Amino acid sequence: MQEQLKKPHIKGTMIDLRMARESDWDAYYTFLHDAEMNRLTGSQTDFTREAIEAWIHKISVINDDRVDFMIILKETDELLGEVVLNEIDPVNRSANIRIGMQGSQHRGKGYGSEAMLHMLRYGFDTLKLHRIHLGVYAFNPRAIHVYEKLGFQREGIERDALYLDGKFHDMITMAMLEDEFRALYGAE
Ligand SMILES: CC(C)(COP(=O)(O)OP(=O)(O)OC[C@H]1O[C@@H](n2cnc3c(N)ncnc32)[C@H](O)[C@@H]1OP(=O)(O)O)[C@@H](O)C(=O)NCCC(=O)NCCS
Repeated sequence: MQEQLKKPHIKGTMIDLRMARESDWDAYYTFLHDAEMNRLTGSQTDFTREAIEAWIHKISVINDDRVDFMIILKETDELLGEVVLNEIDPVNRSANIRIGMQGSQHRGKGYGSEAMLHMLRYGFDTLKLHRIHLGVYAFNPRAIHVYEKLGFQREGIERDALYLDGKFHDMITMAMLEDEFRALYGAE
C-alpha cells in the first residue's frame, strides 16, 4: 500500500503513467535531447550524464513539491515523455502542470491529451488540489489547442517571457480550478 502511494501507476487507454526507473536512462536522455520538444518548451539546458542519473533517481518517487510521471505507450512500452505537477503549494492547494513528448511520430495521436487528463485527475482527486496552472509559449498552437480543449481557461500573457532564436516570445498563462474540472469530467 505504502509503495503504491509512493510509486503510483496509472493505467490508461493508449498510455500508462508511471514513476521513472533507472532503466529509463537511455529513453529519458533521448527525450531530453529532442530538439523540437526543447524549442516548444523553451528548454535551453544541456544536462550531463551525472545530472540525468541524479534527476531520474529523484523523480523515481513522489516528492513533496512535485510528481513526475513518465508517459508510456502501452502498445510498445516506449517512454514517450513526461507529464509533471511541480511547484505544489499545499497552502493554496495549487500546482503547475507541464508536459513534453519526444518524437514527431508520437504527436497528434491523442497521447498528450490522455496523459494531461490522467494527471489532472490525479491532481484534483488524489492530491486534492484546487488550482492547476500552466504556461505555454504563443508559438505553440497545438499545445494551446490541447489545453483549451481540455478546459483550461486563459488567464493572461507574460510578455516577452522567453528569448529564443534571437527573439522574445510571449507566454500565455492558463489554469483550471477543481469545480471546472468536476463540471467537465465528474467526480472520482
Ligand atoms: C503538446 C503535446 C503534449 C500535445 O500532445 P499530442 O499527443 O501531440 O496532442 P493530441 O494528439 O492529444 O492533440 C492534438 C490536438 O491539437 C490539434 N493540433 C495539431 N496541430 C495544431 C496546430 N498547429 N494548431 C492548432 N491545433 C493543432 C490536433 O488537431 C488535435 O486536436 P483535436 O484533439 O481537437 O483533434 C505534444 O504535442 C508535445 O509534447 N509537444 C512537444 C512539447 C510541447 O509542446 N509541450 C507543451 C509545452 S507548453
